[in-house]
Amino acid sequence: MPESLRRDAFADPDRHVMEKAYARWAPLYDLVCGPIFESGRRAAAAAARRVGGRILEVGVGTGLSFSDYDHTTAVVGIDMSAPMVAKAQERLASGQFPHVESVMVMDATDLAFGDGAFDCVVAQFVITLVAEPERVLDECARVVRPGGEIILVNHLYSEKGVTAVLERLLARPARKMGLRPEFPFARLAAWAERHGAVALVERRPIKPLGVYTLVRFRRLLDARARAAA
Ligand SMILES: C[S@@+](CC[C@H](N)C(=O)[O-])C[C@H]1O[C@@H](n2cnc3c(N)ncnc32)[C@H](O)[C@@H]1O
Repeated sequence: MPESLRRDAFADPDRHVMEKAYARWAPLYDLVCGPIFESGRRAAAAAARRVGGRILEVGVGTGLSFSDYDHTTAVVGIDMSAPMVAKAQERLASGQFPHVESVMVMDATDLAFGDGAFDCVVAQFVITLVAEPERVLDECARVVRPGGEIILVNHLYSEKGVTAVLERLLARPARKMGLRPEFPFARLAAWAERHGAVALVERRPIKPLGVYTLVRFRRLLDARARAAA
């Protein structure tokens, strides 16, 4: 693949393209993406329940994950897409999810929460789709308390073989649909290394197909602890 096409294939999504895509997705999202993303969503929520306490769901979408949490958690959801949040608010209004405190429109690049406000930050199928992934990760690390976790689940770039070629070829058309198949794990690892106050604690494929990867980072109790870790 020529270098210019390769660069284009790996470019980060445009925020407005994503906003338009999710305004189109909102009415159909639960029907189409609900079953497709279920295994990843459940695995991420199960990991978050193990941390417990106050949980921030970044890019909460239509709130499909609400039923994956319980009374041991207090969930706040944010998403930049007003039509997706409207769906989540409808779900919340059913009264079936007392453990969900609120859902609001907010851009993950600029979270309106104080430092260390949450025990856990979860982003399910989101980090590969944001316009500035490292800035969003910085924000996640800021609002999670020391000792708390950032839990991500995504399809990540396959790196090699026919699948990787296909993922690069599909990158441009996929972006218009609000999807991204070619985001490499190395970028998450490089962010953690640069950030300095988070440590990678888990990277595992999700059963049964291993198409999605769960990634957990822990906010270090003290940045200096990193040296000793
Ligand atoms: C694939 S959906 C995932 C929704 C939900 N987490 C789920 O698993 O069903 C991606 C979501 O990320 C949201 N999103 C993308 N960029 C965002 C940003 N900068 N801030 C907040 N949400 C964002 C989109 O609006 C969309 O709802």
